[in-house]
Parts: sequence; C-alpha cells; structure tokens
Amino acid sequence: MSNVLRLHGAMLLALGVVVTAQNVSQGWPYMFETEEVFPSPPMRTTGVLAESLTLVNQLITQLTLEEKVGLVEGSDGPCGGSIAPIPRVNFKGICLQDSPLGVREADFVTMFPAGIAAGASWDRNLIYQRGLFMAEEFRAKGINIALSPVVGPLGRSAFGGRNWEGFGADPYLAGVAAKETIAGFNARGVQSTIKHWIGNEQETMRNPSTGPDSVTVLQESVSSNIDDRTMHELYMWPFADAVRAGVSHVMCSYQRLNQTYSCQNSKSLNGLLKGELGFQGAVMSDWFATHSGISSIEAGLDLNMPGSPTSPYFHNITQFIRDGNITEERLDDMVRRIMTPYFHLNQHNSSYPTLDLGLNEFKAQEVVAVPILPWKAVSAQNIEDWNFGPPKNRDVRDNHGEFVRELGAAGAVLLKNEGALPFSKLRNVAVIGNDAADLSQGQFALNNTNPVGPEFGANAVGGGSGVGRFSYFVSPLEAIKMKMGAGLTQYILDNKIAVESIGSLYPPPEACVVFVKSFTSEAYDRSTLALDWNGDAMVEEVARSCNNTVVVTHSGGTDLLGWADHPNITAIVAGHLPGQEIGNSIVDILWGNVNPSGKLPYTIAMEVSDYGTQIANFSGTTDINAWQSDFVEGQYIDYRRFDAYNITPRYEFGFGLSYTSFELEKIDIIRLTKEVSSTAPSQPVSPGGNAALYDPLIFVNVTVRNSGSVAGATVPQLYLSLPNSAPAGTPLQVLRGFEKTKVLEPDERQTIAFILTRKDMSFWEVTAQQWRVPSGDFTVRVGFSSRDIITRGSVTLI
Ligand code: NOJ
Repeated sequence: MSNVLRLHGAMLLALGVVVTAQNVSQGWPYMFETEEVFPSPPMRTTGVLAESLTLVNQLITQLTLEEKVGLVEGSDGPCGGSIAPIPRVNFKGICLQDSPLGVREADFVTMFPAGIAAGASWDRNLIYQRGLFMAEEFRAKGINIALSPVVGPLGRSAFGGRNWEGFGADPYLAGVAAKETIAGFNARGVQSTIKHWIGNEQETMRNPSTGPDSVTVLQESVSSNIDDRTMHELYMWPFADAVRAGVSHVMCSYQRLNQTYSCQNSKSLNGLLKGELGFQGAVMSDWFATHSGISSIEAGLDLNMPGSPTSPYFHNITQFIRDGNITEERLDDMVRRIMTPYFHLNQHNSSYPTLDLGLNEFKAQEVVAVPILPWKAVSAQNIEDWNFGPPKNRDVRDNHGEFVRELGAAGAVLLKNEGALPFSKLRNVAVIGNDAADLSQGQFALNNTNPVGPEFGANAVGGGSGVGRFSYFVSPLEAIKMKMGAGLTQYILDNKIAVESIGSLYPPPEACVVFVKSFTSEAYDRSTLALDWNGDAMVEEVARSCNNTVVVTHSGGTDLLGWADHPNITAIVAGHLPGQEIGNSIVDILWGNVNPSGKLPYTIAMEVSDYGTQIANFSGTTDINAWQSDFVEGQYIDYRRFDAYNITPRYEFGFGLSYTSFELEKIDIIRLTKEVSSTAPSQPVSPGGNAALYDPLIFVNVTVRNSGSVAGATVPQLYLSLPNSAPAGTPLQVLRGFEKTKVLEPDERQTIAFILTRKDMSFWEVTAQQWRVPSGDFTVRVGFSSRDIITRGSVTLI
C-alpha cells in the first residue's frame, strides 16, 4: 500500500469515516488491485516428496487425458468431497471430509474442542494431541483428506462468524497452533488442508449474488483489499507456518482478494503461495468458490470442488488442452500436487483403513433430508470401485473423550474471581440459563448453518461445516448434578423464566452459576457482541438477587460482558466452545480439579466501537463491484489496535487468571550470531519460504515461579517491539513466543526458553519484497498477558 493510502486509511479511521459505496465510486479503494503472476510454478522434483513424486509420475504415465482430468475435480462419492476412483488402474478414489474439530457427517466420532478453545489453551502439546487424535478418527474411518485446520479468518473483526474455527486473532499463535495440528495429522498419515486462503475475514457477501437464473451475477462477492505488508505480517503468516509444517493442501476462499476471486488470483496462488512460500501440495477450491476454468488453472488452482456436475469448470480440460489454452504439463502438475501427499503418507498402502460404508449412508441420508444438496452418494453398482470395507458404523473414538475433557478445561479462561472459585463444600447450588442443559434440537442439525442456534442447550461448538454430530454430550447441568451428589442442585433452564422467577429458588443458593452463550456459525457474521437470548439482562437479574453469581459463557469469541464489574458477580469464566465434554470440562474448572491456565486468544473490549474494524456491508447498493472491504487498519487489529490507539480493553489479549499466582524472574537474552545481515541470505525456496528466515537469532530465557499456594500452570508470553527504524504502521508489540509451563507446585520454578528467528525479528519491506531486520534496539517484553509485562530487556542486531 502506498504511504498516501496508508495515511488516507488512518485518517479515515481517525475520523471514524465508514467506507461506503460512495467512497468506492470515488475510485480510491481500487488502488488495491492484483498484479498477475504467471506461469504457475510446477512442483519441485527434489526434497522430501521426491520419492512419492516418482510414484505419481508412474501413475500419470498409465492414465488417459480424461482420467487425469477426473483427478483434478470432485465427483459424486461417499464424502463431503470425493475424487472418483479409476478402476482400470485399481485406484480406489479419495475421500475429503470436514471438519476442523472432528469428523463431520459420521457416526461414533468425537467432537473435539473448537479451534478457539484449543487456541485459548496456549498449550502446544495439547494442540498437537488434538491434531493427532482427530487424525486417528479420520484415518480409522478411511478418510484421506481432512479439511482442517483453519487460520483464516484470523479474526480481523470481532463480529466474524467463523473466527471460532481458528485459534485466535494473532498470526503467531495461529501459526504455532496450525503447525502443531498439522504435525499431528502427518504423524497419523492423514492429509491436512489449511484454509481459507486468504483474506476470508467475513461471511457477509462471501459469495456473489445472482439473479433469478442463479447464474447472472448481480454483485460480485466482497473484495478483501489488503496491502502487501499487512498480507505478509498478518494474514499470510500462519499459512507460511502451515506450509513449512508440511500441510498437504491449501483451500482457497470464497471472497475476492484485491478485486480478483481468491481461487483465480494468480498473485496470491502462483506468486505468494507456490512461489514465495514454496508450497508443494494442491490448491483446492472451497466448495463452489471456482468461477472459471482456464483462468483459475493458469492462476494456480489445482483441484476444483465439489466438481462435476454442479461445478463443471474443470470438466473440459481436455478441450482446453486441445485448443492450446492449457498445457498437458500444467494438468500433470495439478495431478502431481493432488496425488503426491497421498503417496507420501502411504495412503496407497493396504495398511490404510478402508472407508466406512456408514459415510456413504450418511451422505445418502443427507441428500434425502436436504434435497437441494447438489451431490450424490455412491450408488449400489459403484460401491466396488471405492475402498469400502467392514466394519460399518465403526466406533473410532477410543478414549478421546477424556482428552476432550482435559482440553476443554485447558481452553477455559478465568476472567474474574473474587474468591468465589474454586467451589468447596457447596451444599446448595443453582444452575441457571439456557446454556446449561442438553441439546434441545438433537445432537446435530443436518445443516445447522443458522445465525442464532438453538435456544436451549449448551453451546459446545459453532455451526456450519466446521462441526459434526455428537455421539454423546455431557451438559453442564448433568455434570454439576453428578458433582453435587446428595447436595441440592436447583435449576432454571430458560432465560425468560430466570428473569421472572429467580426469587422462587429455595433455600437461597450458596452460589448461582449462570450459563450464557452466543452462537456463531459459518455463513453469518455476528450482528451483536451481546449474549444470545437476552443473556446479558438475565445475568444482571440473577446478580440482583444472588450475591454469589458465577457466570460461565460458551461462545465462539467476544462477548462484551458489560456487567462484569457488578459486585454480586463474583467470578466469570469464558468457557469457549469445548466440545462434547462441555459439562465435565467446566466442572473441573469450577471445583478446582483443574487450575485454570487458559488465556484469551483475542481482546474483550469495553465498547463495540473500540474494535474499530467492522464487517463491510454494502447492502442496498446495486453496483456490481460495490462490496469492497478495505483493510485500511493495516496490522492494527485486536491488541495491535488497542496498543496503537491506547484503548483500555476490559480483558486484554493473553489475559487469564489462575487459582494461584506466578512471578517471573530474570530475563536473559542471548544473541546467537555476531554478524546479522539485514536480509536473509538467499537460498532456494523451501516450504515456508527462504529457509534462512527461520534461522534463530536470539534466545530469551525467563524463569517462572509459582508464588501462590496451590499447584498450577501458566503461560509466559513474549512480545517483541521492533526498533524505531521500522516503518510506520509497525505495531507497538507483537507476540513472538509463548510456552505453557508444566503444573508447578507452590514455590516451584521452571525456566522457559524462547527462540526468535530472523523472520520473527523482521518486517516485510514492500519496496525490496524482502523480510528485513531493522537496525536499532529491539525491546523484548515477557509477561502474563499483552498488558501484564513483567520483565523486559533489549537487544541490537544491526
Ligand atoms: C465450505 C466451507 O467454507 C469450507 O470450510 C468447507 O470445508 C467446505 N464448505 C466443505 O464443506
């Protein structure tokens, strides 16, 4: 972005100017345009994939042109996405399945905590295990490609409807979490898919609107207009980590990026992803995100989903080749990119589990239940072509429920505690609110894409393609009843009734635990940051009569919590979306079986306006290009914005209390090399980019001590401030390290070592198109949140 535009954007923000269609017609947002980058870089023939590439090349020599085309588009089949078998060469097809938190559209599977809960744990080991256990379930069902994990949306706006699928509003945190998840998938030989590349920061108008014929485009989808530096330092960052971690595939997103649809954006696919980041797998379209054949293929799209017959853009590739518009070599490269991970992870081997026929029946049932769904399950006569095998309806859950309980508790953040928690010797508790009980609408609404969600039932996951079917569910009410045993558990499970008759409880409860929620779902952005179903008013009403009110939220992100300072509200826990063990996880926190150690992976503001960035909405306009979302805030999202504008949050990024207290002693900064060049020595690009960008430049050691009286873990966080020589638009501080401690006994210490790489200590220099280490003093800050910096030091590299 030019300085002029940056200034213009900053001025607009400072003036509180809303970007409207009128601004658009004045022309300036069109400065965000996409450069074209051709040709699409082919896969490298060397590196860790070389051996499997040879196997793919052997396969390719056996295939006809039509058969190769069949591999680069989806077909009818047993899964959410399917690549058709080629019986002639004994290829049994490929099954692609959602979701980021467990196997979707399947039975006897586990619903793990959502990405946002995993992110809130700030626990690399647990995040890795989550990936590993999810992968075990995908694998045991015979699924080849998991459509997981999510780092886009990152969380530009607190209103983003899918923020909860990802790990939080910071690229470093999201990048680490993606890396760990992918490592888990790779360890179990399941292909992973990082999504949604890129700039997919809102649901509103994510797809174009069409006329009555469903074809004529009335308005193009929203265009995320992102400048080059913000792209690199914010939105691309976690994707780079995913590519470096060996993710198999990248899903391109629905919306436009700088005016061009994501799945046909040559700058982002050929240039940034395959070129700069050296991505070696396939770019797969989101479902119906493809809008062209030749242009998309040239721009770098390799796999069109869900493919023919409903999205037939790739069906005529044979013709494109005959007409000289696409080379057969490009088609072969698409096949290589799609098929290499299959061989690399040994999925061609007979040891890879067969497909559970239940997946196909599930799909068939879905098509009957929702007739508008355009895809079909495998018909009886084609069953033999696929890799189906017994047993059907396999139970793949193992003991993952225990893990879900653990991670669910680890992702809960204690926001306030006036001594109310942990409970002890409670004889009479009240459980209040419509987030407390079991699911009132069943375990799974087939397409539970819905702006509101069910009124009654604990909110354990979000809505849309990012979830699956619960095989069992432990509600908070159920878990509390179990915990209370012979004690008294009174309850009111309807917010309206709670407001009217909270006084009807007798004897007055020793504690009122209020369960409230806000539902978030694919296809909808949030319209408010208030709690659903009048939850805020209900909390205040309960607090009026109950002087020991403990509030638990189950939400996909920010709730404003305007009542947080109410004197009768003695504790608040943000329980996030913890999955199927929602009740047990929260009981572990409330009664202190688990000492809370979760930290907010986003900022909770005092006022909506504090967030600045809103969902772009040009409803009511008719201009075909009216939907422009200019990311004029640059890197100033979430805590970066609150820092830059000196806004006091209610609860800051990284914040979370414990039942004990911690101290940080000593910061020790060790510079690892004498001479540091300001740019990375050039090296051939390997996955993740120039490998020299990941060279460690400094170590930072700190020692944590449990200074309280009970055992507990915490998360020391390292925030880095770049020297003053870094250009305008540089955030005051950015997260560049975190580590969850072990559970420390009182007075026990643990030394934590952070490693900062060249990339961690650089900014993206737009003119040079390079990462550059700035000259001058870096400030290294370590603390327990982005605002609770305990110790700091400085280092100069250049
Ligand atoms: C659309 C969603 O955006 C994507 O995340 C999902 O994987 C596909 N549909 C397939 O269900």
